[in-house]
Amino acid sequence: MLVSAKEMMQKARAGHYAVGQFNINNLEWTKSILLTAQECQSPVILGVSEGAGKYMTGFKTVAAMVKAMIEELNITVPVALHLDHGTYEGCYKCIKAGFSSIMFDGSSLPIDENLAKTKELVAVCDHLGLSLEAEVGSIGGEEDGVIGAGECADPAECKQVASLGVSMLAAGIGNIHGKYPENWAGLSFETLAAIKEAVGDMPLVLHGGTGIPADQVKKAISMGVAKVNVNTECQWAFQEATRAYIEAGKDLQGKGFDPRKLLAPGAEAIKATVKEKMELFGSVGKAND
Ligand code: 13P
Repeated sequence: MLVSAKEMMQKARAGHYAVGQFNINNLEWTKSILLTAQECQSPVILGVSEGAGKYMTGFKTVAAMVKAMIEELNITVPVALHLDHGTYEGCYKCIKAGFSSIMFDGSSLPIDENLAKTKELVAVCDHLGLSLEAEVGSIGGEEDGVIGAGECADPAECKQVASLGVSMLAAGIGNIHGKYPENWAGLSFETLAAIKEAVGDMPLVLHGGTGIPADQVKKAISMGVAKVNVNTECQWAFQEATRAYIEAGKDLQGKGFDPRKLLAPGAEAIKATVKEKMELFGSVGKAND
């Protein structure tokens, strides 16, 4: 069932858990994540970066694939198809393509421009029944060419953006896309507490979910995070399993070269990672709450 993420976020806040956003790259990724969500009876958000959208030949292809897959696989849990770190132009492309949820990442813009564009997109998304995620204070590291400095968000700016009526807010609290450096100081719970104080019940989004210790993820959820984004960890799981298959020479045995066989261990590894995260975020069994 393709839905906006609005209701998912409200239910997650009320139930003190978080919904996972897992980024997709192709058919295998999408199928693995949807099947795991159904098996776990968990709501799920499929994240699509602009780079991944381009790789899959465009947002229209992605929306058509996801909608058809939900139907063909009999996926009954709530699924949101969400643009990840969208540009202003990318947001409109995804709205037109039939996405159910949009992230406008105006964090690199001057705050007034971020506010103006977010406000405009809130009105458009509200009208169409879509959810909108906004961002304040860029997430560190690099994701699909989007590079962030990783500063902690200013609670006053968070309040300004939250008051525009966005469905969820991504606010930097020391989180980074990709691998965390050895000397990473951990999440700034002081910043998270100050943001929560400023924005009240606004569902918060924790980007850079890969590699954050479980206790810190749980604490962040207890303090207002309702959505956790995971991308790199699924990529590592897929890569490791694929490497093991080839290193064991399985692609050279019988019909082991068949792409459906070659990609199967990676697809299974993604499923295991997604399941582990859904358990950690507490969203298992919450599909019909
Ligand atoms: P990771 O790749 O670090 O898991 O981050 C994912 C993310 O935040 C997508 O927006």
